[in-house]
Amino acid sequence: MARFDDSRPEMTLEEFRLLRDHVYSHCGILVHEDMKFVMERRLWPRLEALGVSDFGAYHRFLRHDPNRHAELEAAVESLTTHETYFFREPSQLKAFREELVPVLERRNARSRRLRLWSAGCSSGEEAYTLAMLLRDERRFEGWDVEVYGTDISRRVLAMARRAEYGPSALRATSADLLERFFVPAANNRVRVRDDVRAMVSFGHHNLLDEAGSQLVTKMDAVFCRNVMIYFDQSARRRVLRILRDRLVPGGYLLLGHSENLLNLGADFELVHLRGDLVYRRPELPALLRSEER
Ligand SMILES: C[S@@+](CC[C@H](N)C(=O)[O-])C[C@H]1O[C@@H](n2cnc3c(N)ncnc32)[C@H](O)[C@@H]1O
Repeated sequence: MARFDDSRPEMTLEEFRLLRDHVYSHCGILVHEDMKFVMERRLWPRLEALGVSDFGAYHRFLRHDPNRHAELEAAVESLTTHETYFFREPSQLKAFREELVPVLERRNARSRRLRLWSAGCSSGEEAYTLAMLLRDERRFEGWDVEVYGTDISRRVLAMARRAEYGPSALRATSADLLERFFVPAANNRVRVRDDVRAMVSFGHHNLLDEAGSQLVTKMDAVFCRNVMIYFDQSARRRVLRILRDRLVPGGYLLLGHSENLLNLGADFELVHLRGDLVYRRPELPALLRSEER
């Protein structure tokens, strides 16, 4: 009997374009044409799991089947990259801690409330890193501090909630931080300490979902690092509009080091820190700012 592997269907260019557009309109991830073979390879197991004979039938399943929403999640899951680790991009974290945290402390001194968002948090390392940085800052004792981590993938969110990690996630974590913020877990892994876990909540959220974003509380700072690198300009613009709307006036947006807002026409101010460049939602609406000039 022929194994499925021997008779794997090829993806035609037309099927590729249909599937690519479907994935793109759902989550903003744009698979380039020269990556057709990667898409084909990654989606084969989905065809196999559903017993679907070719990519045309798979596209019809995604459009019309009663289980299409769950299957679209599975397709997106197989196409996304979740690479992350604790204390990633340390110079940016240092700049955040030394130059932005004191500003946030002064600004929120009355409310004693602070909200950070790791948007596209993958398996949670970035959100816990932020909680650890804040925990280290004695200045927030007695404050109402919360870090939110959201992602489109339920699989990585389950890992984030479990909070257990191996060596790869800890490759940039010093022995001192390991000692202070983790406890031993089974199978040579470590678990984030409970007091840090209590500062972080995780939720499922598609960054392109405008209506769903309205439910996200207003943030003092958003870390959206290494997420929009997989989006095209139009999806980036949509996400930036949403993130801007979820920031308090004067709130900060921190992107990954290879990312910037050039040519995106996004209404953010560039802030030159000693150790990094970050973005800020202007304090005043654009209309009032132009009247001021
Ligand atoms: C490469 S990881 C980055 C993780 C972390 N921010 C970091 O810099 O280490 C990108 C994450 O973005 C998530 N993602 C991609 N598209 C998304 C979307 N439309 N909405 C929410 N999350 C998305 C992926 O599932 C993945 O976990």
